[in-house]
Amino acid sequence: MSTPPRSAERPDQLPSWRRLVRHGREAQALRLADLFARDPGRFERLSFECGALFLDFSKQRVTAETLDLLLDHARSLDLPARVAALLGGEKVNSTEERAALHTALRFRGKGPYPCADRDVMPEVRAVLGRIHAFCESLHRGELAGFDGRPLRNVVNIGIGGSDLGPAMACEALRSRHVAGMRAHFVSNVDSTELARVLEVCDPAETLFIVVSKTFSTRETLANAESAREWLLRAANDPAAVARHFAAATAREDRARDFGIEPGRVFGLWDWVGGRYSLWSAAGLAIAAVAGADTFEALLAGAGEMDAHFRAAPLEANAPVLLALIGIWNRNVLGAPTLAVLPYDGALGLFPAYLQQLEMESNGKRVDHSGGPAALETCPVVWGGLGNDAQHAFFQKLHQGGELVPCDFIVAARGQCEIGGQHLESVANALAQSRAMMRGRSAEEVSREMYPPHAGDLLAAAHRAVPGNQPTTTIVYDRLGPATLGALIALYEHKVFVQGVCWGVNSFDQWGVELGKEIARDILARLAGEGGTGEVDASTAGLLRRVLALRAQRGEESVHER
Ligand code: F6P
Repeated sequence: MSTPPRSAERPDQLPSWRRLVRHGREAQALRLADLFARDPGRFERLSFECGALFLDFSKQRVTAETLDLLLDHARSLDLPARVAALLGGEKVNSTEERAALHTALRFRGKGPYPCADRDVMPEVRAVLGRIHAFCESLHRGELAGFDGRPLRNVVNIGIGGSDLGPAMACEALRSRHVAGMRAHFVSNVDSTELARVLEVCDPAETLFIVVSKTFSTRETLANAESAREWLLRAANDPAAVARHFAAATAREDRARDFGIEPGRVFGLWDWVGGRYSLWSAAGLAIAAVAGADTFEALLAGAGEMDAHFRAAPLEANAPVLLALIGIWNRNVLGAPTLAVLPYDGALGLFPAYLQQLEMESNGKRVDHSGGPAALETCPVVWGGLGNDAQHAFFQKLHQGGELVPCDFIVAARGQCEIGGQHLESVANALAQSRAMMRGRSAEEVSREMYPPHAGDLLAAAHRAVPGNQPTTTIVYDRLGPATLGALIALYEHKVFVQGVCWGVNSFDQWGVELGKEIARDILARLAGEGGTGEVDASTAGLLRRVLALRAQRGEESVHER
């Protein structure tokens, strides 16, 4: 049986929610600058240490009363029991009748994982052991390609969670890459990425890792098939597939049918969701390029966050606080988006990773009961590396007039420091969150322009910045695998807590199916095989246009170049 939420009441009907909404009416007028001026202890009260991470919520538009009300609401939703259900392996994925046990993948205890149905640890440890052995042979140069040279290029072929997690982590941990190993990622189906990767890889030195939980995702299979053809053209020997391909999948039968040698197929389980899968064999590329020890440290860092999430009281629980403040911003203050802004060049892919984690998990309009969700759910998550973003879209954050909560993610020390450049990055992060908090009034601007000239009033209006933009700042020392693991797990648990607050199942993604079905039909039409029925005039017109363009220009495949 799946585990529906224990509280059957809609979240918006709970007295705790009504109290929050009432408080929200008063809080709309709060000015962050005033809150700091009134309370010298604000930073100490609203910042939290959590292992390697330090979280500052003091620039959020909350007071002690706000936090108390949010925590009361979390208790009314039975949050501690819901967390226990998740971590205890209950079937929290109610629409698919599955547990969501990614935490078991980073459980470092010696004994069994406390899991409702069965202990999953023997299988988890067995696959992890095989990953270690495989990667160690790879790094010793024992896994040779078709002409005897060691495999050095690792090409991860996967999409969504089978790409974003490993790609983000490999990029973030580049300073740990094993000498000589090179990581490449191919996800998109239009073959641009694949062509560019194949251009720089020598087939005799290339290991393809096909990552697909279902081993049926069209983009991944199309890329894997093209990669196999490319390899076979160079090797001229069908046996090369066994040497040059590995897979991470829950459908080991399909991987074997593809030609992948059973010893190189690494299993994962239905209780690992795609966007929660980098901790499983789906993270094989991380171990393959950064080493199994680095992968271990990543798991251990996440495991520490799990232990904190499990044991810390709600009022000192980092993922819970991050989540509840997000709920406050989204549902009480009414912010439709969340900007994620790493000030750490190693985390360039982190915003894209969080987009999937948050929006695929909680971008839902139906609650556990099948009725409409009572509250607006996941905000649109977006962002980019902080410094680049400052010179691109921060104008709108400062003066666009909309409420855009931001998460600043700041490394105290960079992974590769050249000169004093990293300090400049930190200075920018702290400056931007301060500017967003305090703003600058037109009067201040005019004072700075003293003595005033004609036209200064107009200039001051253009230069004024309203401020009061709510931000969270997360600080850590230099990013290593354990810190990265903790950071990812922090957001994973935040997403779970928010799913509880919104009453949605964070572990399914039915919304992506319709587009996939229509794409199959459209592909048949493009291939001249006809479709299954009428299409609308726009789609029909676009089909005609694309077919005409392709007929005029001819086709050029990557292999013909
Ligand atoms: O279509 C969405 C999705 O199912 C994601 O949830 C998943 O991460 C991705 O596609 C890839 O799926 P698979 O690992 O089965 O290829």
